[in-house]
Amino acid sequence: MGYSEARRVLVTGGAGFLGAHLCTRLLADGCDVLCVDNFYTGSKDNVAHLLGNPRFELMRHDVTFPLYVEVDQIYNLACPASPVHYQFDPVQTTKTSVHGAINMLGLAKRVKATILQASTSEVYGDPEVHPQPESYWGRVNPIGIRSCYDEGKRCAETLFFDYRRQHGLPIKVVRIFNTYGPRMHPNDGRVVSNFIMQALQGHDITIYGDGSQTRCFCYVDDLIEAMVRMMGTPDDFTGPVNIGSTSEFTVKQLAEKVIELTASPSKVVYRDLPSDDPIQRRPDTTLAQQTLKWEASTPLDTGLRRTIDYFKQRYEL
Ligand SMILES: NC(=O)c1ccc[n+]([C@@H]2O[C@H](COP(=O)([O-])OP(=O)(O)OC[C@H]3O[C@@H](n4cnc5c(N)ncnc54)[C@H](O)[C@@H]3O)[C@@H](O)[C@H]2O)c1
Repeated sequence: MGYSEARRVLVTGGAGFLGAHLCTRLLADGCDVLCVDNFYTGSKDNVAHLLGNPRFELMRHDVTFPLYVEVDQIYNLACPASPVHYQFDPVQTTKTSVHGAINMLGLAKRVKATILQASTSEVYGDPEVHPQPESYWGRVNPIGIRSCYDEGKRCAETLFFDYRRQHGLPIKVVRIFNTYGPRMHPNDGRVVSNFIMQALQGHDITIYGDGSQTRCFCYVDDLIEAMVRMMGTPDDFTGPVNIGSTSEFTVKQLAEKVIELTASPSKVVYRDLPSDDPIQRRPDTTLAQQTLKWEASTPLDTGLRRTIDYFKQRYEL
């Protein structure tokens, strides 16, 4: 694709963990990338390697305010994703999800762009159905401490589908399950980054609950591939599509793996489980396999090794 024909792509939350990987990938694919971020949880460091690229532009902007730019595609990722960050200012979290969705959908409508929403497995809440298919409506507490995120993301999905029904907008919704990899925040309370930082520093590894709760961990490169494929699907395909790994590990198993791969002297300690923390979460990815011809393929050991190397280098541990 020549420069003049390049797709102009807006990535909101582009300086965050996933956003930075997505911007890198889109530039490699020959796109012009406009990265918009208010640096609430993201940082310029995450996209420092892209700043010299003439096809890359970084703009400080809060998506709760309208944005006027000309683009062909929008990936809407802006939103703090870890409980520590999204519970710090819960009102702003809901505003980012809801007002951010309204503003980006309004922009997509004006410039006739295809827009993809980074939704989340949290829309399923604490599910009674395992694994969760997209048709499951979820079991979400509307008034708990996680609700600002869960309900904000649910409302954003509603807005996406109403813009589709009411205005015929080409929309795509992916529901992302636990994803990890280089450029995660070191202290955001997410289990993979927590364990790696604790192990590399020789601190106790903290497990909330008894460690029997299970999670599936998707490596970031796999997730980005799925998002790009989703954007490339025909206009009549909207999702929602679950994206995540289906290999299930207990949190205790993850702690043991991290200790092994870092050769750390750390010990495991147990703390009370926070409110509304789901005990099991596994995606049904049949739809992703059928429509995107995609499944997560990076083994946990490989992904963890790459992530551990990143943390070692970045934080000189
Ligand atoms: N990482 C995961 O496992 C995961 C799982 C499910 C869903 N998601 C979704 O993917 C998206 C990216 O998550 P992430 O893990 O990269 O998190 P992150 O916190 O690293 O990235 C979010 C980015 O959005 C930016 N941001 C926040 N509020 C903003 C605002 N009002 N205006 C502009 N920018 C704003 C932050 O500064 C940050 O750069 C989020 O929408 C999240 O809900 C992530």
